[in-house]
Amino acid sequence: MLGFGLIKTWRELSAKGIMGINRRNADYVLKYNKRSLYPVVDDKILTKERAIEAGINVPEMYGIISTEKEISKLDSILAGRTDFVIKPAMGAGGDGILVVADRFEDRYKTVSGKIISHEEIEYQISSILTGLYSLGGSRDRALIEYRVTPDPLFKSISYEGVPDIRVIVLMGYPIMAMLRLPTRQSGGKANLHQGAIGVGVDLATGHTLQGTWLNNKISKHPDTSNHVAGLQLPDWQGFMRLAAGSYELCGLGYIGVDMVLDQEQGPLILELNARPGLNIQIANNAGLTLRAHAVEDHIAELKRQGKTETVEERMHFSQTLFASVPS
Ligand SMILES: Nc1ncnc2c1ncn2[C@@H]1O[C@H](COP(=O)(O)OP(=O)(O)O)[C@@H](O)[C@H]1O
Ligand SMILES: [Mg+2]
Repeated sequence: MLGFGLIKTWRELSAKGIMGINRRNADYVLKYNKRSLYPVVDDKILTKERAIEAGINVPEMYGIISTEKEISKLDSILAGRTDFVIKPAMGAGGDGILVVADRFEDRYKTVSGKIISHEEIEYQISSILTGLYSLGGSRDRALIEYRVTPDPLFKSISYEGVPDIRVIVLMGYPIMAMLRLPTRQSGGKANLHQGAIGVGVDLATGHTLQGTWLNNKISKHPDTSNHVAGLQLPDWQGFMRLAAGSYELCGLGYIGVDMVLDQEQGPLILELNARPGLNIQIANNAGLTLRAHAVEDHIAELKRQGKTETVEERMHFSQTLFASVPS
């Protein structure tokens, strides 16, 4: 059931051209995302391979386990590593992801401090393979990768885990951005439905705006009590460039690009989503529809002139037009 707060929030936003799920599916996902290209974004292993080919930074892949028999490879994949991440290649919403932060005697310690045995990890992988977390329940592969260490900047405003930066990109033009902060509840993951916080980000500057948690507006992180607004995200142009360039990477016209900031490696692409969620509008107190129309008009005009724009030109267009205006 929808709480009163949520209904009120969405009502206020509808005046600002809020995009609902039907419009998103009909006018954007179906229109701009060619079905034959879905595998590239729905399978994180394929996304990673594409990104590497295109020279785009991603967390290093340590190994892939595709069959029950291959689970015996786990020891050699993990040899000498104290931290790593195991995830379903076709998972979504943070489900089935195991973030291991350390070893503890002959066991492992997850990022939320839970101690787990080698057998439990094997069991998790076997669940991934059977398709427990994959879209449609089809058989899946387990991906083992580098664990991102968040930039120390995020210490005061996130609880364990790695915050991520989500940008909605239409035909290579970023239209809205959000920083997602893990909470005690979200178990180190930055997915909103796991209980993470969404914080709007000004496309022009990379300054954080207000936050939303469980569909309510908030100004402080519930676990750390620190303010979430008014922060400058480092290397914002780097994030914008990765987001805008993701169009060339996957060919899908309407995507959500998830990125992280690694302490050593800087901005990295985590994954691409072909059906990005709509709550980003609450975090930004702005609707997607008007911005999407502005991009569509711009592209139509360029077409009349027989022109297309580069990544830098697209960034410039979006950052000029969609800069946040103080209310
Ligand atoms: N390599 C990693 N290192 C640290 N945390 C990670 C890593 N990969 C994922 N996470 C955490 O899990 C969340 C979900 O991961 P993601 O790859 O986006 O999968 P999903 O499709 O389930 O959203 C991320 O937002 C991040 O908080
Ligand atoms: Mg994600």
